[in-house]
Amino acid sequence: MTAAALDYIPGLISAYRAGHAGDHVHLGYWGQGAASDWRTAQEAMTDLHLDALDLQDGQTVIDVGCGIGGSLRLANARLLNSRLVGVNIDPRQLAICETHEATGANRLEWLECDAGAVPIGDCSVDRILSLEAMFHFPARQDFLSEAARMLRPAGVLVCSDIVFGTPRKTTEARLLAVVQQGYAPWPQPVLKVDATIQMGRIAGLALRRIADLTAHVMPTWDHIVSSRDDPERSPVAAMRDLHRAGLLHYPMYVFEKRGA
Ligand SMILES: C[S@@+](CC[C@H](N)C(=O)[O-])C[C@H]1O[C@@H](n2cnc3c(N)ncnc32)[C@H](O)[C@@H]1O
Repeated sequence: MTAAALDYIPGLISAYRAGHAGDHVHLGYWGQGAASDWRTAQEAMTDLHLDALDLQDGQTVIDVGCGIGGSLRLANARLLNSRLVGVNIDPRQLAICETHEATGANRLEWLECDAGAVPIGDCSVDRILSLEAMFHFPARQDFLSEAARMLRPAGVLVCSDIVFGTPRKTTEARLLAVVQQGYAPWPQPVLKVDATIQMGRIAGLALRRIADLTAHVMPTWDHIVSSRDDPERSPVAAMRDLHRAGLLHYPMYVFEKRGA
């Protein structure tokens, strides 16, 4: 990890340590009355992903780009006798992950590595989650290929992404640059959903389902953008404005490894 990368993380870690934020580092899900407050909306987003994973007791589950461990904390509460492995390139977040405790016969492990090179054996994993993290990875294709390598045949990958349409105006291009710098690394912000589905196909992953969560994350901005945030300087305000302009898309993919 370069020193310039993930500059937004220390503020989130401080907020978590001060008790002002929970252990989820992602947008909220507000669909179908799922939430009326920020923390519930973040948990609802995690639950949506965990539901899509179709978790079963005894499985090995990996969370790639695991933040500070909130998703695996909730997975641990759903499962018995399971191996839960969090992967993150950032040791600052993994130090918080280490404070989570597994219950019963579950095992929690945390690995410091890149999403494209995870030290886990071939065909040894039942479920892989990556919640709102793949836009940071050096190459989505490498991550999808690595996920396919680790999954057993018929294993499931659930991953969500934030992608943008091509800016139509110079103001939109400026806002996109603010997002890309403020939330760096973000190597390829402009991308079509079909391109990711094709990358999955190349990796050996068949798309089972895609959910468009774009509209369901919109209320998030009312909770995390302040009226003092200038979109020309503040990445969170820039992201809100790009969303309102119809340029931000939030897909959640459910892939299955071929070859069952
Ligand atoms: C927006 S956060 C989402 C965190 C977590 N999935 C959650 O929902 O709370 C993105 C995460 O991806 C991690 N990340 C960024 N680049 C990575 C890489 N190349 N390999 C592994 N993890 C990475 C970040 O450190 C961060 O924890």
